[in-house]
Amino acid sequence: MLGRLNHVAIAVPDLAAATATYRDTLGAQVSQPQALPEHGVTVVFVDLGNTKVELLEPLGEGSPIAAYLERNPAGGMHHLCYEVADIRAARDRLAAAGARVLGDGEPRTGAHGKPVLFLHPKDFAGTLVELEQA
Ligand code: CO
Repeated sequence: MLGRLNHVAIAVPDLAAATATYRDTLGAQVSQPQALPEHGVTVVFVDLGNTKVELLEPLGEGSPIAAYLERNPAGGMHHLCYEVADIRAARDRLAAAGARVLGDGEPRTGAHGKPVLFLHPKDFAGTLVELEQA
């Protein structure tokens, strides 16, 4: 069921500073910032060839990463995103196995324009997991 690692997401308090670190200190290819108001974040993608790092900064009130940044003011690893071929089939299989799907269980459109779901970190070794339909 599980496919490639699509991205590792890192929550950051200052997107411009984090982008500069990846671009200038690490010499990575970085995208322009992209505001995703429906997800409450602004995102920059770091292209690594085999996968991506997604830098996330809170956008607007009630951002889903605001509480994480309160606990981790310097930022930190927020979630891993794995690709699946059929997100509804993956959801149904996980739900049948007792895993908790966050929200109402319906896939939403993610940062890459593809359907995504999030899974409860307590069911996956303490790691928030995003599934994206490849
Ligand atoms: Co993500």
